[in-house]
Amino acid sequence: MARIEPHIIRCGVLTPSDEVLLPAAIALRQGGLVAFPTETVYGLGANALDPEAVRRIFAAKGRPATNPLIVHVPSAATARSLAAHWPDAAQTLADRLWPGPITLVVLRGPSVPDVVTAGGPTVALRCPSHPVARRLIELADVPVAAPSANVSGHVSPTRFEHLAPNILSACRCVVDAGPCEFGLESTVLDVTTSPPTLLRPGAVTRQEIAEIVGSPASVNATAGPHKVRSPGMHGRHYAPRAQVVLVETPAAARDASADNLEADRSDRGKIAFVVQGERSADTIPQAHRTVVMPDDPRAYGRRLYAVLQELDADGMETIVVQLPPDTPDWEAVRDRLRRAALR
Ligand code: TXA
Ligand code: MG
Repeated sequence: MARIEPHIIRCGVLTPSDEVLLPAAIALRQGGLVAFPTETVYGLGANALDPEAVRRIFAAKGRPATNPLIVHVPSAATARSLAAHWPDAAQTLADRLWPGPITLVVLRGPSVPDVVTAGGPTVALRCPSHPVARRLIELADVPVAAPSANVSGHVSPTRFEHLAPNILSACRCVVDAGPCEFGLESTVLDVTTSPPTLLRPGAVTRQEIAEIVGSPASVNATAGPHKVRSPGMHGRHYAPRAQVVLVETPAAARDASADNLEADRSDRGKIAFVVQGERSADTIPQAHRTVVMPDDPRAYGRRLYAVLQELDADGMETIVVQLPPDTPDWEAVRDRLRRAALR
């Protein structure tokens, strides 16, 4: 059976014209899936108020029905209208950080379908800053449920070229506006607890949140009646096909190579090293590919998923990654690397 190709829209980041985006907005309104760029990663969107459309997202990704979705909204006012309770902390954070890469988890209102929240008592809401995402959501005039546009468990796409064939073929429409600015997913913060609980470190740092509403609790420290677990936060995730091996220092990369990688090289196939800083590149052993990553966390985050995608495409079997420092500004990058390395 011939596959129906999605309608592909190419546009600039800053000046998306309504005329160009309209087919994507109509597809959303009609219950179709649309892949679109946000400032973090590409999302796979559907009308959040249409349970059938949302079910198609789960099917396309192979995502367990127990893992709830983020609902994207054009404004804090729309977010509030989808919540049963909108805490002061949510309003304060929205005033300061929206539109932008932070998702707020609140008690869900009655209009949010079960399939979106995986039947849970809360809903995750996010007002993205990407001009294309914003205008698309405004034109569709519905809240848009959108997980990252990858097959479940895999690396999130940060550019159009990294959308998997299965995702593309599930879409009525795909918007290509080039690479994403942040490259790592939004921070997910549960504001049903006091203090709020950081469920997923992300593009907005823990310090930025602390300056606005005080230090957030970490997920393991959460207690009380609203203890909310975030199903997507467990286990292997954000992972390339290759096996990811983490090491703390360039010297450890060398040792890892000497001690075991070299020993069973034929089993491991092609090996890539992902290191930081030009100097460390001299101290690592020969690899099929060596990628030198930036020393700045933002720049590193922007590149990480694209690098993993490219190393997979190059047929690497093992990717040895030198972990960035264990400091707060690297929290999101280290979190994603740890999950990518889980077996
Ligand atoms: O940057 C992002 O957030 C991207 C773009 C497209 O906006 N979206 C994204 O969605 O990363 P997804 O589905 O890949 O990750 C959402 C995470 C999952 O780990 C999910 O478990 C969690 O948010 N989540 C969603 N709803 C939740 C809820 N009600 N309570 C707790 N966690 C929730
Ligand atoms: Mg995801």
